[in-house]
Amino acid sequence: MTLKTKAIPSHTVCVTGAGGFMASWLVKLLLEKGYTVRGTVRNPGDLKNAHLWSLEGAKDRLKLLRADLLDTESLRAAFAGCEGVFHTASPVTDDPEQMIEPAVKGTRNVINAAADVGVRRVLFTSSIGSVYMNPHYNPGSLIDDTCWSDLEYCKNTNNWYCYGKTVAEQGAWEAARERGLDLVVINPVLVLGPLLQPTVNASTMHILKYLNGSSKTYVNASQAYVHVMDVAKVHVKVYETPEAKGRYICANNTLHRGELCRMLAELFPEYPIPIRCKDEKGPRNTGFRFNNQRLKDMGIEFTPINECLYETVKNLQEKQILHYDEVVDPIIEMKPSTRALERELLTALGCVDAYADNRPKICPVVRMLDADEPIRRSPMLTVNITIPYLIKLFAFVYCHIMPSIVVYE
Ligand SMILES: NC(=O)c1ccc[n+]([C@@H]2O[C@H](COP(=O)([O-])OP(=O)(O)OC[C@H]3O[C@@H](n4cnc5c(N)ncnc54)[C@H](OP(=O)(O)O)[C@@H]3O)[C@@H](O)[C@H]2O)c1
Repeated sequence: MTLKTKAIPSHTVCVTGAGGFMASWLVKLLLEKGYTVRGTVRNPGDLKNAHLWSLEGAKDRLKLLRADLLDTESLRAAFAGCEGVFHTASPVTDDPEQMIEPAVKGTRNVINAAADVGVRRVLFTSSIGSVYMNPHYNPGSLIDDTCWSDLEYCKNTNNWYCYGKTVAEQGAWEAARERGLDLVVINPVLVLGPLLQPTVNASTMHILKYLNGSSKTYVNASQAYVHVMDVAKVHVKVYETPEAKGRYICANNTLHRGELCRMLAELFPEYPIPIRCKDEKGPRNTGFRFNNQRLKDMGIEFTPINECLYETVKNLQEKQILHYDEVVDPIIEMKPSTRALERELLTALGCVDAYADNRPKICPVVRMLDADEPIRRSPMLTVNITIPYLIKLFAFVYCHIMPSIVVYE
């Protein structure tokens, strides 16, 4: 995956929290565009940051520095000599103990450290959480960059992430005004897309839980999404636009969870994606629409949501975070010698239309093994198999293929 390049040689910028999900794509894009990049991380030697070294240009133009958001001296050292700072580092959690101090004090420290060493422009990655969490905004209404979350409401609803990001952004504006620093803010909605880093971040969990069977139903709620590469592009575009100012809502489509699950199931029918809403009786939550016109006016085009979902899931499969085998525990494993009978068996079981790519895709009872793959003992019957299916299965197995398969109880 290569992002479009336009070289701006020997321009040094710093990205805080460089090893994170969004920041890794930002570092990649900045390197591709010819920037020299300093990335701050809490532990440069940690293997979770190793992916950054495989980025194109990293060997020559990336430097990872240890810095802590609560240690202004470490931030000053990282920013010295930089024209710009992208402040992305933040806890992403609703635990107030972990969230508030690094987000709020850390962001002020970043602004002050940047001003101390003469940084020209700071881009702060805020969140939609500092924009729409407000009881005065009606679902369905169009939210724009003039909207602000209500702190009391965030507290009362235990939305400590939104609370932390709102106070952090307010503090950033205040500190930038005091210090005469050029600050621009990006407010992304929930970010999805391929991971560059080895670990799963919080926003990716948002869809992983629907794919790995850990969520049996979906909530009656809506959410706006945006592709991680679009978020990285927006950061660079806004940074490179001298007249950019204020807040930029970085959002693409808003979808109800039911719609999200339907799209996922269409793209990846092999996973046990929920088909039922937790709240089947209540009126459907329409969610907010977010005005991204300011970014569209700058020429930003957003990736369609189905492409974004497809790339996210494919990447989770490639990284083996999402396994085919983990999804459905078979009660039968078949050796290739029985392959000719597979379609017949699946037909008998009524799951033939889930058959694709020469493999059973949704197959509650059968798994094809490769020739050299050992038959393994797996936890049995974690899927719902109806009595008629079982009767058909045992009849079929008994009559036709008993000699060539292994059946676990
Ligand atoms: N992902 C989304 O859906 C989304 C939506 C809107 C806004 N955002 C914002 O975008 C930014 C990046 O989010 P992400 O999803 O890419 O998150 P992420 O993958 O969890 O990355 C967060 C980064 O912040 C660093 N960090 C966390 N706590 C820190 C602390 N106390 N001191 C120093 N560094 C700390 C982490 O560094 P370590 O590796 O050292 O822990 C990590 O590199 C955040 O500011 C987030 O609020 C994200």
